[in-house]
Amino acid sequence: MNRLTKNLIVAMTLSTSASFGAFASGETAGVDVNHLGINNTLVRITGEGKYLLLPVQEANDDAKINVIVDGKIDKTINVRLAKSKVDYFVPFDLTPYKGHDVVMNITTSQDRSTVREIKEDAWSKTIALADTFDTTNREKYRPAFHHTPLYGWMNDPNGMFYKDGVWHLYYQYNPYGSKWQNLSWGHSTSKDLINWEHHPTAVEPNGLGMVFSGSCAIDHTNSAGFGENAVVGLYTSADASQTQSLIWSTDNGETFEIYPGNPVITLESEARDPNMFWDNEAKQWVMVLAHALDHEMLIFTSPDMKEWTLQSSFGKGIGAQDGVWECPDLFRLPVEGSDENKWVLLCNLNPGGPFGGSATQYFIGDFDGKTFKADVDAQGNIPTKWMDFGKDHYATVSWSDAPNDRRTVIGWMSNWQYAAEVPTMQYRSANTLPREVGLFKGPDGQIYVSSAPSPELIALRDKLTVKINKADINAKGRTYDLPATNGGICEIIFDMEAKKSDIVKIELKNSEGEKVVMDYKVADHTLSFDRKESGVINFSQDFPSITVSPTFETDGKISLRIFIDKSSIEVFGNNGRFVMTNLVFPTTPYNKLSISSTGGNARIENLKIYSIK
Ligand code: FRU
Repeated sequence: MNRLTKNLIVAMTLSTSASFGAFASGETAGVDVNHLGINNTLVRITGEGKYLLLPVQEANDDAKINVIVDGKIDKTINVRLAKSKVDYFVPFDLTPYKGHDVVMNITTSQDRSTVREIKEDAWSKTIALADTFDTTNREKYRPAFHHTPLYGWMNDPNGMFYKDGVWHLYYQYNPYGSKWQNLSWGHSTSKDLINWEHHPTAVEPNGLGMVFSGSCAIDHTNSAGFGENAVVGLYTSADASQTQSLIWSTDNGETFEIYPGNPVITLESEARDPNMFWDNEAKQWVMVLAHALDHEMLIFTSPDMKEWTLQSSFGKGIGAQDGVWECPDLFRLPVEGSDENKWVLLCNLNPGGPFGGSATQYFIGDFDGKTFKADVDAQGNIPTKWMDFGKDHYATVSWSDAPNDRRTVIGWMSNWQYAAEVPTMQYRSANTLPREVGLFKGPDGQIYVSSAPSPELIALRDKLTVKINKADINAKGRTYDLPATNGGICEIIFDMEAKKSDIVKIELKNSEGEKVVMDYKVADHTLSFDRKESGVINFSQDFPSITVSPTFETDGKISLRIFIDKSSIEVFGNNGRFVMTNLVFPTTPYNKLSISSTGGNARIENLKIYSIK
């Protein structure tokens, strides 16, 4: 564009904005909508209101909105503005701009032949100011005791830390729609890992890009100079490239300052999700960064979180390699029943999980402050191990600074194969239940990670609705009622002795004939989970599936703890030695539990079913 044309455009823009009002076609009070061309509209806020409600239609493409405050771009957001119908509204918070001039320069991407057509777009007739935004739940599948965002899209949990009795959870968040976009850090806190309080978005996209996953740690020694016990975070700025950015907070993670020297790490290839911790032996920071497309993890060290030195890499040609490596975590744990301590390296992988799509793989080994070396099996190979044998467990990482040497983790309870298609709209995706990880020796002599439900979850229990001390189970089987209260949310516990049996079938069923079938195959030492007839399954061909978990026992005995929460089932076996997390969308809640055995009788003991508050 030559200078003359550029000036002409500026002049035209000025004259158009001068005649705002005359051209305005806005229908709603306090919002002037001025269509400038087939794909460009200026919206000026002329009235008062806490929020500008943006109408969304999920099937539409994103419109790019430059928010111009007193003539300067304050931020850019991408919103699927509604064309033919409004699926829902998202609030744009105007409170920071009170007393200032706000204009939104909107570029849509739809093909239109005349300006007249854009005037018919649903969004331009329904965009409106409001003082309130209704976050009352509208979704029948929203879990009751799992963390979900009030509205909008969520993926990875990240940046989690514990401080002064509060568990801080940040998450990949789109505040402007229930599909992946505008990645920011949403923020929730809890005192008991059950009840979550929602806070304002903590970190928003800036000039370096969207705010991808990362980690936080408490700087007890003021190594970075942001203050003693400042909360320091490191995340990936994602734009055309991925770089690593430093942030800090002196108000316990409510708001963050952006380090002016960002980015603190740049590489020539995709690298993301920095996860750091203080190495008290070497008195320095250690950080693991996913070198995503190279299928490896890079390990850096730093005295102050600003200057990082690359020390080593781990992963080339090792473990599952069929997808990008993402969201690492590295920590040490004692091995149950021994004096040994081992290091665990979590390497989330997408796709390439055991049942398709995303999953959490891990390696057990040693770490000397600079290099991670994985243990080998009897054949001298580094085995691929999975943290959860369901389809809906991803991006799992742990809280830093958790009390009493706890290693508490939480995952994203979905799968990249269909996360954006699941049958909810007000929000998308929940987190798994929080879990305590430990290490145990499996029957093959290998060390494995266990993930047991966090002890706080006992407090969920309400009424004991079924209690059976002992019952023999034959081919005809036995059926028990599941609680009908609160949409059927419940916890089921029992021990099973099945040495004489071939297969013990555990079924969850509803009155519509929908069911989840779990088969304990005793000689195989496996438990499977079949959700092919579990309810609504047709939103993705990758959803109907059977997942299979090893049971890590040799004696035909398993103890199960099963949590059902509207659209999720988490099966914990033998105190977390095996776990399967799977989403389900039954049209009505499962109301029966049936257990039967083929090949010989089995016995269940201590069956307890609790309704949940
Ligand atoms: C994992 C991931 C991360 C990235 C984030 C972006 O699910 O792809 O690697 O930081 O999601 O939302």
